[in-house]
Amino acid sequence: MKFFADTADTNDIRDLADAGLLDGVTTNPSLINKSGRDFLEVVREICGIVDGPVSAEVVALDYDGMMREAEIVRKIADNVAVKVPLTIDGLKACKTLTDDGTMVNVTLCFSANQALLAAKAGATFVSPFVGRHDDVGFDGMQLIGDIRLIYDNYAFDTEILVASVRHPVHVLEAAKIGADVMTAPPSVIKQLVKHPLTDKGIEGFLADWSKSGQKIG
Ligand code: E4P
Repeated sequence: MKFFADTADTNDIRDLADAGLLDGVTTNPSLINKSGRDFLEVVREICGIVDGPVSAEVVALDYDGMMREAEIVRKIADNVAVKVPLTIDGLKACKTLTDDGTMVNVTLCFSANQALLAAKAGATFVSPFVGRHDDVGFDGMQLIGDIRLIYDNYAFDTEILVASVRHPVHVLEAAKIGADVMTAPPSVIKQLVKHPLTDKGIEGFLADWSKSGQKIG
């Protein structure tokens, strides 16, 4: 499963990229706002840090407006994936852009039928939001399982990008289901390394090492 960081914080992105943990990045208008930086400038910087897809979201709601914004956004770098909402106009923009060789991430997916439409429109990625789905009393992971089944039934190439990941169990379940990608805040990716027995083991080894009175080098 590929790991994308769901952030516009370039320090966090560099940190994870240096550890070889990043296959791409996703941003959204809220994350751009949180960064306090210029949208095009921060996306350009992110595209220079990671080689993989960097999702940058358009904000127009009509096809012409989305295409106008997509023209600007896709010129930033070859690894930009234009992010469009799961609406009819978004799907139209998806079809035009992917036919033209641009990666597209269809976002705000909350049903398997929506994911089916995204695949039919040729999306590179579909982003089902598991955390927000859980928030309103549905089972986000059930949605991922359903989409996996449908995409496999028809051999769709669209990659399932599990989004709105809130904790390590989401990551584990997404991997068990066979999602292609998950995008999570850097804090959740860093949480994956944590295990109390790892910390306890380090503590024990260091205590014994200091008793040995030895030094390396
Ligand atoms: C996905 O691309 C979105 O940016 C993101 O995962 C939304 O997550 P949230 O529900 O935590 O805002």
